[in-house]
Amino acid sequence: MSGQATEALPPVDGFVAEVSVPPVPDAQTSPDPVSPESLAPAEPEAPPAWEPREPVNPVALDTLFRQGRTHYAWRDTPVEDSKLRELFELLRMGPTSANCSPARFLFLRSQWAKERLKPLLSVGNQGRAMAAPVVVIVAHDPHFYHMMWRLYPRDDAKEWFANNPPFAEETAFRNGTLQGAYLILAARAVGLDTGPMSGFDNAKVDAEFLTDRGWKSNFLVALGHGDAAALPAQPPRLSFDEACVLL
Ligand SMILES: Cc1cc2nc3c(=O)[nH]c(=O)nc-3n(C[C@H](O)[C@H](O)[C@H](O)COP(=O)(O)O)c2cc1C
Repeated sequence: MSGQATEALPPVDGFVAEVSVPPVPDAQTSPDPVSPESLAPAEPEAPPAWEPREPVNPVALDTLFRQGRTHYAWRDTPVEDSKLRELFELLRMGPTSANCSPARFLFLRSQWAKERLKPLLSVGNQGRAMAAPVVVIVAHDPHFYHMMWRLYPRDDAKEWFANNPPFAEETAFRNGTLQGAYLILAARAVGLDTGPMSGFDNAKVDAEFLTDRGWKSNFLVALGHGDAAALPAQPPRLSFDEACVLL
């Protein structure tokens, strides 16, 4: 909430949380420091979680799913850093197991950064990645569980993973991949096009960009404003009966 400080509380039964602390009223300017008005929230309250929601409108469904395509050619329109922040604000709200949020994102948007990536890409991906205003390395932090005290405040949540490295690795990869998918949909939601790519050398990308942070790359996503005229014919999808089972 704006205008309010946050402060870490000491652990209580292993539960550590950040709480909003209302600002201390100024005795000289505030005639009644405990009046209900002085404690009123600065922003409207979010609707209750249980309130029935309208389905997403058809235009949004087109944008997110039916008309959203994988792009390989890009217009010159730049992508501002503020747009990347807007995109992240959406994608971070997608669910992950135990809210573990292991994905990490490197947004390569300078020519210098993209040139470092270029030789690590498959030949077919080089041109399309370099022409995009931004290329995201979708990575994950194998030691994501160090943040569990804040993300899933139970006293034992960190140990679920810290004591079981294969489980931690599986969890980081599964949920990091999900968050990469949220990134694709969030990008479409804020008006960007995407070009996901797995054709690159993960070990070399890790060595070039991620070693100092200890993160591991999963896949890449080119971001920008796609050139629709250059789109190939869309490949078909499986039907419900081919891909789904009702039991
Ligand atoms: C994780 C992932 C990795 C991909 N890797 C590549 C790649 O390395 N090179 C490529 O040309 N396309 C790649 N693609 C693009 C897919 O082939 C494309 O998304 C798919 O054919 C659907 O196309 P559409 O979105 O236009 O319907 C990748 C897509 C995803 C989701």
